[in-house]
Amino acid sequence: MPTPDLCTEEEVQQLVHGFYDAVRRDEVLGPIFDSHIHEWDRHLATMVDFWSSALRGTGRFRGAPMPKHAALPGLHAALFQRWLALFDEAASAIGNRAMAERAKDLAARVAESLWYGYQMNQAARAGAGAA
Ligand code: HEM
Repeated sequence: MPTPDLCTEEEVQQLVHGFYDAVRRDEVLGPIFDSHIHEWDRHLATMVDFWSSALRGTGRFRGAPMPKHAALPGLHAALFQRWLALFDEAASAIGNRAMAERAKDLAARVAESLWYGYQMNQAARAGAGAA
């Protein structure tokens, strides 16, 4: 269960900003994110809300991750692995071990569900195209 005792808002900010700094420097993920995200401040604020809700239970996130990722062309399993590797590093760098464990676990589960959803969506589109 998310709980405000797990971490502070500052730690959530550090996690999100540290992670996306690494993403933007990454030679594979950086260009993908930069080609889809035109307002980085807004994306970072959305992601702070997401992680604040997921870790601290603040309920601020009002988004729809599945359709947004389904709309991105060319995602594949190795990209999700790379995303997770950078996320794990950013989470470990915060210095709050309980928070890092919970964040990594959640990220892995969301990544898996986004990846399965993505493949289902691609298969449905291919099916619709073939019909
Ligand atoms: C290959 C891996 C990934 C790529 C390339 C990717 C890319 C993106 C992009 C471009 C957006 C902005 C979409 C938009 O505003 O239209 C986004 C939003 C988002 N991503 Fe990812 N993402 C990846 C994996 C993940 C994972 C593993 C998580 C798990 C926490 C995640 C969580 C989110 C959330 C919560 C949003 C905001 C959705 C919303 O505004 O409704 N993403 N992602």
